[in-house]
Amino acid sequence: MKTTTWQSPSNIALVKYWGKKENQIPANPSISFSLNNALTTTTISAEIKENRNAISIEFFFENEKNDAFAIKIISFLEKVASEFTWLKSYHLTINSSNTFPHSSGIASSASAFSALALGLCTLHEEIMEIKLPNFYQTASYWARVGSGSACRSVYGGYNLWGKTSLLAHSSDEYAVNIDDQIHPNFKTFNDTILIIEKGKKAVSSTQGHALLKEHPFAQMRYNIANENTGKLLSILKNGEMNDFIKIVESEALMLHALMMTSPTPFILVKPNTLAVIEKIWDFRNQTHSELLFTLDAGANVHLLNSDKDNEQVQQFVQNELIGYCQNDLYFCNAIGKGPLKI
Ligand code: DP6
Repeated sequence: MKTTTWQSPSNIALVKYWGKKENQIPANPSISFSLNNALTTTTISAEIKENRNAISIEFFFENEKNDAFAIKIISFLEKVASEFTWLKSYHLTINSSNTFPHSSGIASSASAFSALALGLCTLHEEIMEIKLPNFYQTASYWARVGSGSACRSVYGGYNLWGKTSLLAHSSDEYAVNIDDQIHPNFKTFNDTILIIEKGKKAVSSTQGHALLKEHPFAQMRYNIANENTGKLLSILKNGEMNDFIKIVESEALMLHALMMTSPTPFILVKPNTLAVIEKIWDFRNQTHSELLFTLDAGANVHLLNSDKDNEQVQQFVQNELIGYCQNDLYFCNAIGKGPLKI
């Protein structure tokens, strides 16, 4: 019996991945940072079995058997079995838990699939008695096959996924860490996730990506995302906060504008999402604090600010934003150091 445990973070995209080709290849590059508190811990135990023809697993989420998740994981394992040739000879018991509240609307597929891919890579090394030459890059590759954004979660700090001529070693197949390109102004960012609405989203990210295939603005979006990747890479190097705010907020609003203008339109923001955005803009105009927002594919607002403004921003959250959060729920994060083998 071989057992491994990895804890891996969720991440928040600054330039968004929205639209993909076959095999989870992104339509445009994206940039994110990993979070320090939104984490999934996954233990995989592998026990050799008699029947070597089929994948067999048992999946527990927070110590309870969960067959719905198990089906998703089996379909992922079917895709990776050609690489992890030992998979069908072992029975896997997988136990997973999250640090963030259940059904809080915080995306968990990135932390879940990155923790799973890291665990599989460790088991691969142990069972095959080899050393993977690029352990994290390989984990990023397989995490991508599970969920695109997960490939950016196998490292800490800032990460880029998707081929761009602006970064020589970039790839559509895995993410690369870009921490060596980051100005001190952006090294310590906080992300307060304001929970506007808990629960499952009406339209999943995977369905959202698919709608881009017939979206009249798709090509324009991919061009702009490529441009924004280039602009953000230089901003992250030169430390210019106002330019950072413009790009990151525009990316968030464009993501939701694409949903609303899709041939089958859908709206994931809620009235309180918009109320919070207006509050953030008013506060920024009045105080000249460097705070900004981004959104993922849901109603929750990610409030971003650097360390120097954190006291003032946390006060603002308490005084003016908490009332817009469901059950007053919010979740403090900062840039994280990346996954941990436990
Ligand atoms: C809006 O990675 O969840 O959060 O590849 O289908 O699993 P799949 O989608 P997913 O999409 C994330 C979309 C996003 C933007 C981002 O994280 O870049």
